[in-house]
This record gives sequence, structure tokens and C-alpha cells, in this order.
Amino acid sequence: MSEPVDFDSLVTRLDVPMSVITAAAGDERAGCLIGFHAQCSIHPGRYAVWLSKANHTFRVALMAGHLGVHFLDRSDRDLAELFGTLTGDDVDKFSRCEWETGAQGVPLLVRCPNRMVVRRTTMLDEGSDHVCVVTEPIEASVGDGPFTPLRLSDVDDLVPGHPVDDRPRPPTERGS
Ligand SMILES: Cc1cc2nc3c(=O)[nH]c(=O)nc-3n(C[C@H](O)[C@H](O)[C@H](O)COP(=O)(O)O)c2cc1C
Repeated sequence: MSEPVDFDSLVTRLDVPMSVITAAAGDERAGCLIGFHAQCSIHPGRYAVWLSKANHTFRVALMAGHLGVHFLDRSDRDLAELFGTLTGDDVDKFSRCEWETGAQGVPLLVRCPNRMVVRRTTMLDEGSDHVCVVTEPIEASVGDGPFTPLRLSDVDDLVPGHPVDDRPRPPTERGS
């Protein structure tokens, strides 16, 4: 079934805040820009992120039990460009930014004090181009200074390093 004509323009109106997800497995580090993320439980606290099946970060996250979730500030557009327009399949993004090792070996972006380390609890793949990863926050920090989220409208000119159509074929039955 085709989706309603105004679906894209409707959800674009939300102007979601942008985040960078990071993960490590063995010697491999990964990270990508995401707009699909939200708190999804209060007690217990849960946070969901949706990762594109096309992304290098998705493949590394499959092998990582923990993720870093960084809320980007308006001053972080350069980080959005680095993590959203390049792919870890071609470049080491972490050689181009300052990072440190956080809890559970998760790579954390030094520039982003508003961040969490989360533990993966569940994954949901309903056949679409993104997989829902539900997580439990195990560490959260809030920056000292003011914070104005970087929003989709600040980065909607960026071209993703991996368009969703890059996901492996054949597609699942529902995704075709
Ligand atoms: C505005 C914007 C929003 C994006 N939102 C998501 C998202 O919610 N989930 C996701 O997995 N990728 C998203 N991407 C795509 C990845 O950030 C992009 O393809 C990245 O280059 C993948 O890097 P990787 O292959 O190193 O993981 C978005 C990209 C842009 C530019």
C-alpha cells in the first residue's frame, strides 16, 4: 500500500532534534547522524533509536551491547556533516574529531556534553528500512552551558553518506 501523500511534509513539520549514535565492537568504531530517536518509557527509563540497515553504524551496533547517544547543539553542524554525510565504510570519522572512551568502551564525542551511554534491550525489525533499537540509559550527563538543539531544518541540505536504498538486497517481504 502506498503511504499518504502528505506523510513526509507532516513529519517534517516536527523539525526533530538531531543526534549522533556511536558504537564500538572489537577494534571497529562507528557513528552516524540520526533524526529518528525518542524517549519511549518513563519507569523504567527507555530510549529508542532507529538505525538504517544501510549504515556501517547499524552493522557495528549489531555486535555492540551499548551505544552512545549525543544530543547535538546548534553549534555542532560540523559534527552533523561528519557523521551524516560520510560513511565508516570509507573513512574513519573518529580520526576527524575529538573522542574519548566511555562506559562499556563506547566512543564518546568530547564536544557533546549532553549525552548518554545506553544498553541495548530489544531490537524490532518490521521489514522497513530502519531497525528500532530500544535501550536502557546506564549513564547520562547534562552540559553546564546553554543548549539549543540542532534540528532537522538546520541540516536538511545534507546528503546521507548511505542512502537507505543502499541496504542489502533482497529486501524483506514487507519492505519490498
Ligand atoms: C538529516 C539526516 C537524518 C538522518 N537520520 C538518520 C536516522 O534517523 N537513522 C539512521 O540510521 N541514519 C540516518 N541518517 C543517515 C546517516 O547519518 C548517514 O547515512 C551516515 O553517513 C551513515 O554513516 P555510517 O555508514 O558510517 O553509519 C540521517 C542523515 C541525515 C543527513
